[in-house]
Formats: sequence, C-alpha cells, structure tokens
Amino acid sequence: MNDLKPWLKSKQKEVDAALGRLLPRENTRPATIHKAMRYSVFAGGKRLRPILCLAAAEACGGKIENALAPACATEVMHTYSLVHDDLPCMDDDDLRRGRPTSHMVFGEGLAVLTGDALLTEVFTMIAQTPPTKRFSVRDYVEEIAITGGSKKLIGGQVLDLEGEGKKLTKKDLVRIHEAKTAALLTAAVRLGAMTANATPRKLEALTTFGYNLGLAFQVIDDILDVTQTTEMLGKTAGKDEAVDKSTYPAILGLDASRKEAARLTRKALKSLEVFGNKANRLEQISRYLLEREY
Ligand code: IPE
Ligand code: IPE
Ligand code: MG
Ligand code: MG
Ligand code: MG
Repeated sequence: MNDLKPWLKSKQKEVDAALGRLLPRENTRPATIHKAMRYSVFAGGKRLRPILCLAAAEACGGKIENALAPACATEVMHTYSLVHDDLPCMDDDDLRRGRPTSHMVFGEGLAVLTGDALLTEVFTMIAQTPPTKRFSVRDYVEEIAITGGSKKLIGGQVLDLEGEGKKLTKKDLVRIHEAKTAALLTAAVRLGAMTANATPRKLEALTTFGYNLGLAFQVIDDILDVTQTTEMLGKTAGKDEAVDKSTYPAILGLDASRKEAARLTRKALKSLEVFGNKANRLEQISRYLLEREY
C-alpha cells in the first residue's frame, strides 16, 4: 500500500500528458470553447477512471501505452458529465474540483456546449485506440457509447433528478448508482482489459469488479458529502441533503452506509482473485478508495 500514492501520482501525470496531447489546444478557434474544455479537464480531478483503465490493462498483461487513449476517453466523459451535473438546472453547484464551475466562469450556454464538445471528443479518442485480436475499434465505440447513453450514465442522472424529494428504496438507489456511476467505472476497466486482448473470463471478472467498486465509490461519495468540508471535497459539502437527494446516508444512515461500502469493496476484491498478483494495483486502489477523504 505504501507505494500506491507515488504510483497514482505518476499515472496521473501520464494521463494528464495524454489528455494534453489528445484535446484540442487552448488557442484553437473558437478559443473560448477550447479554453473552457481544458479549464474543466485540468481542474485537478483524481483521474480515477483513467487510472483504473490503465491498471486493468496491466492486470491483463497489456501495455499501458495502448490503454492511454481509452483511459483519457473515460476521464473526458466523466468531466463532461460533471460540467452538466453542476448546471443550475441540474445540481446547481458553484464549485468543482476546487474551482468555480464551468457555468460560473463561462456562462451557462458555454457550459452546455463544453459538455457537448467534451462528449464528442470522447469518440475521437476512442477511435485512436489500437485494436487487438479479440477487440476492434467498433467494440470500443460500442462499449463507451452504451455507457454514456440513456440506459446507463444519462439514465442514472435522470433517475437521480427524479428521486429528489422522494423516499426511495435501497433497490431504487442501487439502480441509480449502477447507472450514473458504476457503469463508467466498469467501462474504464473493461476498455483497459480490451486493449490487452483480455480473455472472456478476465473481462467478465473485471465487469463484476467495476460494478461493485463503482457502487462502493458512489456510496462513499454520498457519505463524504455529509461528513466532509467543502475545502476537502473541492465541491460544496452538504449539498445532497440541502436538495433532498435520495442517498445511502439519507436512507440507511451513515453507519450502515459505511458497512455497505465495505461489503461492496470486498465483493470487488473477490472478483480479482483470477488475476493473482497481476491485479495488485486494482486491489490497492479499491482499498484506498474505501478510506479516501475526498
Ligand atoms: C465525482 O467523481 C462524481 C461521482 C460520480 C461520484 P470523482 O470523485 O471521481 O471526481 P473527480 O474526478 O476526482 O473530480
Ligand atoms: C454525479 O453524481 C454523477 C455523474 C456526474 C454522472 P453526484 O451529483 O453525486 O456527483 P457530485 O457529488 O456532484 O460530484
Ligand atoms: Mg448529481
Ligand atoms: Mg452533483
Ligand atoms: Mg455527490
């Protein structure tokens, strides 16, 4: 575990460098949109999804460099979803990654377009992913398109909005979290595995891993919203309760939510057994996320 932090730092650097190469330059015309795209992408996120993608490629015996383009694609899809998630018509947040949100700086119209442009860039990045024996560019495109679509990420966001002010059941909550968050974490590890020409068995194991880790991740996000400060989170704390979101802590309480996050993490770890020590990084990341403070 001791060497995880420096490893994460070095992967963040690699991802940032790749993002810098793959995104249009800031002075590309029209400059405002490219500035706004880079403003949100380089605001200092944890880069969890791309790092999971790289670690999954490694676990399947692949090369990190072959997984960089899809890794960046997952981060850019995530960033787009945050830009839109923060809009006044959605969660209405002023702060993201420790900075004023896109619409606060560039205005709402441009923030909507920034999200649209980032989502479109996702496909440019995916198209640059090297195919393998088992997986074609078409497979990569399908993977990311389904993940970002109305049955997954967008569907989850819809259910999340519709759940405001309602007392949802735990089952409803799982449905929201698996769509709005777990789907993209799952796609991140699956895409990494695909660039490593993973066997069906390994791909299946990583699908289960991503699903459980993704659920745990959102449960923890909900817990941190209650227990952390705005400074620590880099986004407004206590926001979920303020708008009466249905979250794990709101429905089960903090204690049971923490237990649930731990249970889901154990399930995620169990699915890594087929990889032996090749999945060390994935394992370390999972444990680390359970204890994260932001
Ligand atoms: C926040 O994601 C939104 C969720 C899906 C819970 P992260 O906590 O990964 O945010 P960044 O990328 O580090 O800013
Ligand atoms: C965000 O969930 C999920 C997506 C953007 C798809 P939240 O609304 O809980 O994320 P934060 O707390 O604003 O980062
Ligand atoms: Mg939201
Ligand atoms: Mg939000
Ligand atoms: Mg949240």
